[in-house]
Amino acid sequence: MNNFVYSIPTTIYFGKGQVECLGEEVQKYGKKALLLYGGGSIKKSGLYDTVKEQLAQAGVACVELGGVEPNPRITSVREGVKICKEQHVDVIVPVGGGSTIDCAKAIAAGAHYEGDAWDLVIDHSKIKEATPIVSVLTLSATGSEMDCGGVITNFDTNEKRAISSPLLRPKASVLDPTYTYTVSRYQTGAGTADIMSHLFEVYFSRAEGTFMQDRIIEALLKTCIRYGRVAMDEPDNYDARANLMWASSWAINDFVACGKEGAWSVHPMEHELSAFYDITHGVGLAILTPHWMRYVLDETTVGKFVELGVNVWGIDPALPPMEIANKAIDATADFLKNQLELASTLKEVNIGEENLEIMAKKAAAMGLKNGYRPLAWQDVLAIYKAAL
Ligand code: NZQ
Ligand code: ZN
Repeated sequence: MNNFVYSIPTTIYFGKGQVECLGEEVQKYGKKALLLYGGGSIKKSGLYDTVKEQLAQAGVACVELGGVEPNPRITSVREGVKICKEQHVDVIVPVGGGSTIDCAKAIAAGAHYEGDAWDLVIDHSKIKEATPIVSVLTLSATGSEMDCGGVITNFDTNEKRAISSPLLRPKASVLDPTYTYTVSRYQTGAGTADIMSHLFEVYFSRAEGTFMQDRIIEALLKTCIRYGRVAMDEPDNYDARANLMWASSWAINDFVACGKEGAWSVHPMEHELSAFYDITHGVGLAILTPHWMRYVLDETTVGKFVELGVNVWGIDPALPPMEIANKAIDATADFLKNQLELASTLKEVNIGEENLEIMAKKAAAMGLKNGYRPLAWQDVLAIYKAAL
């Protein structure tokens, strides 16, 4: 197990009605908030009014920015930064899914930077200060509610890049599973695939001696398998929504990664798909994950796939290791396609061969040589082609 420093200072208000703590929590950070939200789901559900009421009751003045896109654009970040600077915003309150919370993070950093916010995405060392964030989560997927990263897209250059700093981790997040009752079947499936991918990215690591972390990851994967489809079929099943919501935070809040640090593999490959084709993140992951698994499976990695097969998918441990490994990958692919009802080929999301090489080169430049199995751009291209 590698050395690590562990600190997850985000306060979580979990459960029905916990938004009642929002006003008081936001008030700790100042008197003026930027209320940030997406395309309108929170207005439809009534959460927008609840949040406004909370802020007003706590005496917090509020400026607003709506319309944050899925795969949030740097243009929205710039707009938010401008508002924060002009209006002297003390605290940012994103209400939404990962895109809205990610956008808040980039705005939080940009508000304390003289130049263009995109500089901070390119070079995280330039993030010296950030406006505090108190988030209200409405979609279980990215873990942005409890992690220190965000992902921002620049469609002028077809770049989708992470921004990251401990300064960007939300001070507090309200996690009320009932807010996810209105999430569509499609987004519920995609979100579950995203949570699972975050777990796979850490599970498949070269670090040795991480028995404890690996068993916790397996439990979180089993939670997604147990409840992903249930939440799709019964959108207002509280236990399903609650378990998925808590799993989304724990998959990526650094806890399971303690002692297992290493470069991720499938996310950098997916981010290129979103950067070029603006597809849903979880869908891109669902398409690529089984192909990546098949590509990296060999005599040196088979042991980890056997653990996945036996401990998560319940495959007979008496079978030969390679057979267990292949069955584990089949089970993963089957779950993503048939239970979560997600696309399994690039063609289904209208991606052809036209940009595969450039995307492979860009993905490989994101540190894939340090992945679970080192990947050069030619390897990434082979995985993309297998996924066509
Ligand atoms: O915009 P609104 O109207 O709110 O609608 C959203 C959006 O259309 C809708 N939605 C959200 N909550 C809802 C709801 N609809 C009905 N009821 C609700 N309660 O769902 C759609 C997708 O929302 P979005 O925020 O884009 O989804 P998600 O949470 O999956 O976020 C995806 C983004 O996060 C990034 C992805 O790359 C992508 O850009 N990621 C962020 C990470 C992080 N911060 O650590 C890690 C992830 O790996 C990921 O890369
Ligand atoms: Zn993800």
